[in-house]
Amino acid sequence: MREFSVVIAGGGSTFTPGIVMMLLDNLDRFPIKKLRLYDNDEERQGILGKALKIMLSEQAPNIDFDYTTDPVEAFSNMDFCMAHIRVGKYAMREKDEKVPLRHGVFGQETCGPGGIAYGLRSITGMLEIIDYMEKYAPDCWMLNYSNPAAIVAEACRVLRPNSKVLNICDMPVGTLRRMSQIIGKKPKDLLVRYFGLNHFGWWTSIKDKEGNEYIEKIKDYVSENGYLTQIEVDTQHMDLSWQETHKKAKDLLAVAPEFLPNTYLKYYLYGDYVYEHMMEHPEYTRANEVMDGREKKVFDHAKKIIENNSADKIGFDIDSHATFIVDLARAIAFNTQERMVMIVENNGAIADFPDDAMVEVPCIVGSDGPEPLAQGQIPTFHKTLMYQQVMVEKLVVEAYVEGNYQKLWQALTLSKTVPSAKVAKELLDDLIEENKDFWPKLK
Ligand code: NAD
Ligand code: G6P
Ligand code: MN
Repeated sequence: MREFSVVIAGGGSTFTPGIVMMLLDNLDRFPIKKLRLYDNDEERQGILGKALKIMLSEQAPNIDFDYTTDPVEAFSNMDFCMAHIRVGKYAMREKDEKVPLRHGVFGQETCGPGGIAYGLRSITGMLEIIDYMEKYAPDCWMLNYSNPAAIVAEACRVLRPNSKVLNICDMPVGTLRRMSQIIGKKPKDLLVRYFGLNHFGWWTSIKDKEGNEYIEKIKDYVSENGYLTQIEVDTQHMDLSWQETHKKAKDLLAVAPEFLPNTYLKYYLYGDYVYEHMMEHPEYTRANEVMDGREKKVFDHAKKIIENNSADKIGFDIDSHATFIVDLARAIAFNTQERMVMIVENNGAIADFPDDAMVEVPCIVGSDGPEPLAQGQIPTFHKTLMYQQVMVEKLVVEAYVEGNYQKLWQALTLSKTVPSAKVAKELLDDLIEENKDFWPKLK
């Protein structure tokens, strides 16, 4: 089988070791000859890079592995770039979550004002790595899961329409895994129909390959328990705050009982609840939970490996639910025609929704990229919510491109998560100050 060269952009990410372990676990399906980590923070990446180098020399000595902050070295001759950068890192995620609280609005990584702030930072970082990729490896594909994926995808559509960037989120995969546990099936044996935007969508059908429909059975379970399942096989989404999110899907289903909701809809349908909940401990948000949890664990592990100069008995956890990234790479490399939920330009996939909206729908993926599957007409309730949200995302990208203060004010005003134009303006002025090292100048 052909062997591939892969660069992971955002090499210092908390997810890098789990992804590398997952790649090692999948070498029979997706052989790798060369693996590079790339990051613009030498020190942060250096810790994970050094540890992974020790580990790979023990467990996969045939892979040419290294880590670098030099884009020429990182991208030259690569076949795939797996991108998970976080512009501003955890320090800025913490601000995205805490600044809105000062204005009576919840703060979140990808939704509402926090997601908008992160979006304006991410676009610059994403364009930078896309341009490196195209310059040093013109045939390379980027499999991007850097957030906020909805805004990043819209920015790619507008600013780099011909680039080979595929935007994907793990939430459809992660939630399908929970659904499969509910009905006692394997996720790989299920075919879904789904429509929405990134972190904003609904499943309309969950069938096995024989054509049996399970949506009613899953809805019965979710109406009682949300997506909270008893089987602890996930390595991600297990912290207490995530358990609450899985549970809250019960209330999302109650509002619109025909389809199964993406858990992220809680930020749009129950923003007041999220805000009140956050205000119980406004100094300790998800960013703090991750810094004290996943980040600490991953970096402590890496330091141990470096100290022992061996990864024997200290290995990293495999991010097994990230195998969809290999499925996607294989779909491109081997034209597998795999069915995957991806973020793509609508172009009629959702019949009564704008063609130029970046939507999340099932696609058939082959060597030329994803072909969206038609999901037909959608109900007014869902469509109205989606239209409002997609216009927020479009205005954010327009504001970025034009350096337009007014449009960003409108974006925040239009967001279902912000109560008024007054609050939106106060929030915006605060966010501009907090993001001054990252955002384009707005006039
Ligand atoms: P992290 O802060 O631990 O890692 C991100 C890394 O990106 C850091 O090492 C940082 O230095 C680096 N970086 C920032 N700007 C860069 C640039 N311009 N060029 C190169 N490197 C740059 O963050 P994390 O929690 O591990 O998450 C990483 C990303 O993955 C985030 O965007 C997160 O939202 C995303 N994510 C997405 C999904 C999904 O479903 N799409 C799932 C999980 C994580
Ligand atoms: C899910 C989403 C990602 C998001 C992540 C946050 O996986 O799909 O887009 O980045 O959750 O998880 P965290 O553990 O960092 O809060
Ligand atoms: Mn996501």
